[in-house]
Formats: sequence, C-alpha cells, structure tokens
Amino acid sequence: MAKSKIAVFASGTGSNYDAIINQINTGTLDCEVALLICDKPEAEVIKKAKINQTPVFTFNPKQYESKALFEKEIVFELKQRDIEWIILAGYMRLIGPTLLSEYESRIVNIHPSLLPAFPGKDAIGQAFEAGVRVTGVTIHFVDEGMDTGEIIDQEAVRVDLDDTRLTLQQKVQKVEHRLYPQTIQKLITNQNRAIERGTKA
Ligand code: GRF
Repeated sequence: MAKSKIAVFASGTGSNYDAIINQINTGTLDCEVALLICDKPEAEVIKKAKINQTPVFTFNPKQYESKALFEKEIVFELKQRDIEWIILAGYMRLIGPTLLSEYESRIVNIHPSLLPAFPGKDAIGQAFEAGVRVTGVTIHFVDEGMDTGEIIDQEAVRVDLDDTRLTLQQKVQKVEHRLYPQTIQKLITNQNRAIERGTKA
C-alpha cells in the first residue's frame, strides 16, 4: 500500500513538525510529510521544512478577503499532492467550513492541556496560573470550535511544586513529541485496515 501523505499546518517553532519527521526517519511512523502549510512567512518552522526538503505553502491571511478564499487555495494545494490527513501542530487559526467539509474526520490537532480544561491560547500558562497539579496533552479531531472536537488520546503530566512555566512547558512538550507521532501512526494503521476490509475508518 502506498505511504499515507500528510500535511502539517504550523505557525511557529515547529518542534512537533520535527518530532514527526524524526519518527518517520527512524521508521516508527510510516507516512510522508508531503506539505507544510504556514500562515506566517517568517516562522521558524519554515527553516526546518527547508532543511528536510518538505514542500512549503506559505500565505499571508491579510492578503485575502475571507477565510474561505485562502482555505480554497489550501484545498487546491492539498489535493495537488494527494494529502489524506491534516495534522495541526501549532497552527494558530480556527479551521473553517471550506477545509472541514473537504477533510471530514481527517483533521487532527494537538493541544497542551487535558481538554476540556484550558482551551485556547497559552494552555500551559493557564494551567500553571491555576495551580493544578496535573495537566497534560490532548490529541483530538478538529471541528468548527476552539479545541472542542472528539478526543482521540490524552496523557497526563504532573505539575510539581518546584516546576516553573519553563520546566512545565518542557515536560509537556516531551510528551507531545512522543504522543503525536504515535497517535498519527495509529490513525493511519486503522485507516489502512479499513481500506483493506473495504469499510470506512
Ligand atoms: C504545541 O504546544 C501544541 O500543543 C500547540 O502549539 C504548540 C506548537 O509548538 N497546539 P511547536 O511549534 O510544535 O513547537
């Protein structure tokens, strides 16, 4: 069976993009990152994509009259490359109906908290300020809401009394970098099995 093609959507540093690439290179994740979509032309993740020779589509949302218009272009880019899965990794925008309808149940996001706790921006800072002793990582399907889609997997991270925001962030990211590639592999494996059986994943 041909390798599944995924597109990573990112706006920032790209440490999760890197973790996905590393797991592909070590053979524990069986897919191809066939496209990086980035809405910030100066983002760090673009440099990482260049090093790994991942094709990049960058756009500036301000140059479009509406979300529907830039999402139409994104859909065109995705279809050109036969992308099957959209993997959001620090993409700081809500996904609109244009993309959602084209990739129903094929858009996945990672969020640095145990959803439904601490949705939205700076989830690690929110957890730290709230003084919780357990936070974590959630991987979920994407719907039209902010971090609201069906949960696929979660892992808890303890917040120790001597943790700072920075040490907590490092602990959460360590889990993200292991859990995201693992979960993507599970989704792809399930999809391949369903294709073999002739059913829908
Ligand atoms: C991650 O913490 C992810 O959970 C959140 O955005 C962050 C992206 O980090 N959605 P990076 O760009 O992958 O380093």
